[in-house]
Amino acid sequence: MKIALGVSGGIAAYKAAEIVRLLQDRGVRVQVVMTAAAQEFVRPLTFAALSGEKVITNMFGSPDTEANVDSAIEHIAVAQSIDALLVAPATADVLARFAQGIANDFLSTLYLATTAPVVVAPAMNVNMWNHAATQANLAVLRQRGVRIVEPGEGYLACGMTGSGRLAENEAIIGAVMEALGASQDLAGETVLITAGPTREKIDPVRYLTNRSSGRMGYALAEAALRRGARVLLVSGPTAIAAPGGAELTRVETASEMHAAVLRLLPESTVVIKTAAVADFRPKAAAGQKIKRKGEVTLELEPTEDILSEVARRKTSQLVVGFAAETENVLENAREKLASKSLDLIVANDVSREGIGFDSDRNAVTIISNSEVIEVPETSKWEVAHRMLDQVVKLRKRSGVTSP
Ligand SMILES: Cc1cc2nc3c(=O)[nH]c(=O)nc-3n(C[C@H](O)[C@H](O)[C@H](O)COP(=O)(O)O)c2cc1C
Repeated sequence: MKIALGVSGGIAAYKAAEIVRLLQDRGVRVQVVMTAAAQEFVRPLTFAALSGEKVITNMFGSPDTEANVDSAIEHIAVAQSIDALLVAPATADVLARFAQGIANDFLSTLYLATTAPVVVAPAMNVNMWNHAATQANLAVLRQRGVRIVEPGEGYLACGMTGSGRLAENEAIIGAVMEALGASQDLAGETVLITAGPTREKIDPVRYLTNRSSGRMGYALAEAALRRGARVLLVSGPTAIAAPGGAELTRVETASEMHAAVLRLLPESTVVIKTAAVADFRPKAAAGQKIKRKGEVTLELEPTEDILSEVARRKTSQLVVGFAAETENVLENAREKLASKSLDLIVANDVSREGIGFDSDRNAVTIISNSEVIEVPETSKWEVAHRMLDQVVKLRKRSGVTSP
C-alpha cells in the first residue's frame, strides 16, 4: 500500500517525521509532498532520508534539475498510484484551498486529481481553528467525505491554550489505516510471534534444522502490525527481512527460543507459535568437526516443549499453535489443541507440494474448541489475516479487554 503524506506549513510539521516512520512500520510506502511553507519549518532532506523516496517540493520540478519527461505530469501519476492521501499537519490555508478547489501547488492539485480517500489532521492556533471560515471549510470537506482527525486541546506553540494541537499519532495512523481498509482491531494487543526454524548444533560446522522459511510468522507479524498490534517477533535464522515495526529477538536453538518466549510471555496478550522448533537435538555437540570415517551415530535428546511450558505459565494470554503434519493432519491437530490447552490451532499438511514450508502460499484449517475453518490455498498474507480474524473473535468472546 502506498500513501501520499502532505506536510503543510505549521509548527507541527516536524511531527510528520514520526508519522512517516509509524506508517512504514505498518508496511505502508510513503510519498512525502511538502508545501513551500512547510519547507520553512523542516527541510525536505529529513523526509527523504526517512521515507527513502524523493520528496515532492514543487509543481514544476526544481530549476537546477533537468525537466524529467516521465514525471512532467507527476501530480497525475502520484494521484493514480496512491491508496490514500494524508495531510498532517493541515494548515488553515490548506483546508481553505481544498474546500475551494484551488489548485495552485502540488499538494492542492494532487487533492483534486486523486480519487483515493483523503484524511486531514489540522493543526493551528485556537482562534484560527474556531474561525467561522475554517469551520465552514471543514464542513465542506466533511460533506465531501474527507476524514478529519480533530485536533486536541491543550497548550499551543503560540502560547495560547485551546483546540488546535495536532491530534495524537495513534489517532492519525488509525484514521489512515481505516481509510486504507485495514481495521485496527488489534490495537492495544501485544502479539508474541515465533517464526522460522531452529538450528541444533552437531559440531562446530554442522547443525540439524528444517525447511521452515519463517514466511508464515513474518506475514503474521506484518499483518498484526497493520491491524494495530505491538509485535514481539522471536525468530530463528531466516533469509527474509523482518517487518520494520516488529521488536525482533533473534535466536538460533530451541533452547534460546524457549528462553526468549518465556521472557516475553508476561508482556504479551496473544502468543502465536509458527516456528518450526526442532523436537530433538544432539545430546552432546562435538567440540571439533567430526571426521569422515565410517558410520557415525548421533544420539538425540528431546528439546524443551515451549508450547506446553507456555500453556502452563499463561495467565490471560490467548495461545495459538501450529500443527505442521504429514499425516492424519486434523486428528493430530485436535489432539494437540486439547493436550497443550491451546485456544486455536492451525493445521497444515506440509506433505503437499508447493505450499507450506519454504513457499509463499499455504492452505490451512483453523481449529478452535467451537469451530473449524478451512482456508483453501492462498497467500500466507491472506492466511495470516484469516488467523488474526479468529484471534480477534476469541478475544472479543472471552471479554478480555486490551490493556
Ligand atoms: C511560525 C509560524 C507558525 C505557523 N503555524 C501555523 C499553524 O500551526 N497552522 C496554520 O494553519 N498556519 C500556521 N502558520 C501560517 C502558515 O504558515 C501560512 O498560512 C502559510 O501560508 C501556509 O502555507 P501552506 O498551507 O501552503 O503550507 C504559521 C506561520 C508561522 C510564521
